[in-house]
Amino acid sequence: MSDAAVTFAKENGERFVEELKALLRIPSVSTDPERAADVRRAAEYIAVELRRIGMENVRLIETSTPETVLASSSGPGQVVAAREGHPLVYADHLHAVPAADGKPVVTILLYGHYDVQPPEPLDEWKTPPFEPTERDGDLFARGSADDKGQVWMHVKALESLLATGGGRLPVNVRVIVEGEEEVGGEGIAAFVREHPDQLAADVALVSDSEMFAPDLPTLCVGLRGMIYTEIEARGARTDLHSGMYGGAAPNPLVALAQIIAKLKDESGRILIPHFYDHVAAPTAAELKAWKALPFDEEHYRETEVGSTELTGEPGFSVLERTWARPALDVHGIAGGFTGAGAKTVIPARAVAKVSMRLVPEMTTAESFALFKTYVESICPRGITLEVRLIHSGDPTVVSTDNAFVRAATSAMHTVFGKETVYIRSGGSIPIVGDFIRELGIPSVLMGFGLPDDNIHAPNEKFHLANFHRGIESIVRFMTSAGA
Ligand code: BES
Ligand code: MN
Ligand code: MN
Repeated sequence: MSDAAVTFAKENGERFVEELKALLRIPSVSTDPERAADVRRAAEYIAVELRRIGMENVRLIETSTPETVLASSSGPGQVVAAREGHPLVYADHLHAVPAADGKPVVTILLYGHYDVQPPEPLDEWKTPPFEPTERDGDLFARGSADDKGQVWMHVKALESLLATGGGRLPVNVRVIVEGEEEVGGEGIAAFVREHPDQLAADVALVSDSEMFAPDLPTLCVGLRGMIYTEIEARGARTDLHSGMYGGAAPNPLVALAQIIAKLKDESGRILIPHFYDHVAAPTAAELKAWKALPFDEEHYRETEVGSTELTGEPGFSVLERTWARPALDVHGIAGGFTGAGAKTVIPARAVAKVSMRLVPEMTTAESFALFKTYVESICPRGITLEVRLIHSGDPTVVSTDNAFVRAATSAMHTVFGKETVYIRSGGSIPIVGDFIRELGIPSVLMGFGLPDDNIHAPNEKFHLANFHRGIESIVRFMTSAGA
């Protein structure tokens, strides 16, 4: 069954890429309210195609427009923000026939996201972010690797199987594609919580991660969690003349700088008391496997990071620091005057966006509580703070000891002719934790991005060879999971 589907995928590969380009032309930037109609257009494009290839019950599921209930310094549960929800795309095909040996039919839940990060800064793109362009075997566009290209691999694997299998699939399949992953959307989390029956499955297949190196088949078996926060500082009642009041009035921007400077020490260790209390060390076997990976720190510094030095906690390798240790980063500080020229103002208000990556055994609730308590305890005089949680996701580790990981490994062995490496990733895919908690299912994180795909950055690309190998791997995975 899978050979015919793979042949079909090869014969139709060019068409698949052209269809992907059409999806990439839709600027589905989930964080930008002005793009809401485009985000919906991307959802519809995927739904139309799922219908065309023969998937059933295809529909957009509106995510209710919940007021985002956030914890704030005036007490948890206060409503401080509301956001328009972007739709989920759902489809299923639940007609697999039990094998002769009486093994029960397997149901696979395919997950991906069709929303993308904002493309800015635009002038750094060699070709415009929403005009997909092929160069040297790579397809450049915002969302090409993260995650539209990988969603399209799922759709095209299904098409290849349905077209060559007389409208049958080797497994039962449900598809759920979300449009709020990049904004930590609550929409899908609420749907999973409220309708677990509609997503009932044995395993989720998530293609939203990276291969460790070109040509190296990779399964991701751990993700960091995260808490994304805002610290708002207020000083004077209104903006003030800095000559008249400088020396007497508190400055919220300076206060934020002072607070931020106390979040980490020079070596990179986070200074929030008890923050590391529940950090679980990787197993000896994991550490040994990570040491054996083809990782060249100097090459990573030079080509991926592009800085003069790498930073972070001494005593831990780069892979440990990014996969198995928490991290704290500041994403932006807003306030005061940033226009051309000079304006002498003491701003009344300033905001910093700060996130922390969490690793197994840390919890989002406790980590946020520790952060908030600490930030409030170091608040400079004359400043009032509000510390808000914007969104969060649990860290996850998935066991490699299950039949689905074995099926994925053997599928990729057929395609790549190499042994699979098992890695973790420093990134976060919050839904994986929800699948474990609410649906009780593990995820197979079979992603085909590359470390230099520039996801979230200018000149994002997807290596087209990986697009095709991804489709083939997914076809073979579904076939062997159903055997
Ligand atoms: N696909 C990424 C996460 C990822 C990147 C996993 C690389 C594995 C390797 C995902 O789209 C993402 O960017 N997630 C956000 C999470 C979030 C809640 C906004 C992240 O990690 O910042
Ligand atoms: Mn992604
Ligand atoms: Mn992303």
